Amino acid sequence: MIRMESVTKRYADGTVAVDRLSLEIPDRAITVLVGPSGCGKTTTLRMINRMVEPSEGTILLDGEDLQQQPVTTLRRSMGYVIQNAGLFQHRTILDNIATVPRMTGWGKQKSRERAAELMERVGLDSSLGKRYPYQLSGGQQQRVGVARALAADPPVLLMDEPFSAVDPVVRKGLQDELLRIQDELGKTIVFVTHDIDEAIKLGTMVAVMRTGGHLAQFAPPAELLSDPADAFVEDFLGADRGIRGLSFFPSTGLELATGPVVRVDATAEQLTAPGAPYLLVTDADDRPLGWAEPRELRAGEITADALLPYGRPFVAGTDSLRAALDCAVLSPTGWAVAVDAEGRVTGVASQATIGEAIRAAHGTGSTGGARAGERTGDAAADGPADVTKVAP
Ligand SMILES: Nc1ncnc2c1ncn2[C@@H]1O[C@H](COP(=O)(O)OP(=O)(O)O)[C@@H](O)[C@H]1O
Ligand SMILES: [Mg+2]
Repeated sequence: MIRMESVTKRYADGTVAVDRLSLEIPDRAITVLVGPSGCGKTTTLRMINRMVEPSEGTILLDGEDLQQQPVTTLRRSMGYVIQNAGLFQHRTILDNIATVPRMTGWGKQKSRERAAELMERVGLDSSLGKRYPYQLSGGQQQRVGVARALAADPPVLLMDEPFSAVDPVVRKGLQDELLRIQDELGKTIVFVTHDIDEAIKLGTMVAVMRTGGHLAQFAPPAELLSDPADAFVEDFLGADRGIRGLSFFPSTGLELATGPVVRVDATAEQLTAPGAPYLLVTDADDRPLGWAEPRELRAGEITADALLPYGRPFVAGTDSLRAALDCAVLSPTGWAVAVDAEGRVTGVASQATIGEAIRAAHGTGSTGGARAGERTGDAAADGPADVTKVAP
């Protein structure tokens, strides 16, 4: 574990970049440092691998003072990724990734094999290995940066705004990839960003910093959204934090109604029985076809194209209450359609039912910092957020 104890950094010109910062960075989880530009995020990150030395305070790695550890050993145990990847322009992609293994004396062949393996891991086609950085897109270069940092299999990964320079679509891909890699590898990652949405998406723990190098709040993302420590954090989180917080509540507790669900070959009796304002018609395989009012349906004469669209269903249990609510809001009937992993209808839920589930979830505070859906993996199971994340 990395532990910062009242760490201050005062630069030569008197600027206090970080002010008495204390943080416990959990093992095998992603800790995000987030805050406006100039609040001391980069300085904090660089003190962890001693590119910057603290003016006061102590940083401990597995209980040992960093000051007692040789810088070269320390740096090798910590991969470092920066914005725009910082690749060596005159080296091929394969050689860029193989840099640290080569330095540690792995030999050319073994280093290149390792590099090829890492390209696959970060989602890069092996044919790109012979290219030079300028022959890759920004997003691809960023993946190379991640692969290079992982090459010597360091337990710690320090990432300074690694995805900030790429467009939103590519950025989302890189974030998903990082979560997937983390699921497999379970590194201790310290990730710096100025983007609160990125922090909430990636972080197991999030440290919100404010100008002057002060720590405003250190909490799991669900807790930041539900209980911001002060007006600064609340303002920094931005609009809709209530709705966004729902992505941390699984839809498991949501009561689904099966009465209003009828098959396309339903009998006249089955069509009148439910007494619901709308019926969801499914095919013989239980896949949704669309909505209709009961009086518009004639047994034996139901055609899919005469039905109202069913919108985007949510996966019951796996998706979050936010996803369920979104489905209800977008549904022409106000009812959300729940399906299983195979896309078969398991029931429907009204906005009122979803509202009840939301109130119940808030009442019990059952998230425990969890976000439904995405597994954080066994590796993170002993971290502070021993939880599953929910697909928002
Ligand atoms: N080498 C330096 N000398 C003097 N001041 C610095 C130096 N590096 C950063 N700073 C100042 O320290 C503060 C924090 O910087 P930084 O850690 O880079 O913030 P962030 O990464 O959050 O944008 C800023 O006011 C910045 O201008
Ligand atoms: Mg910075």
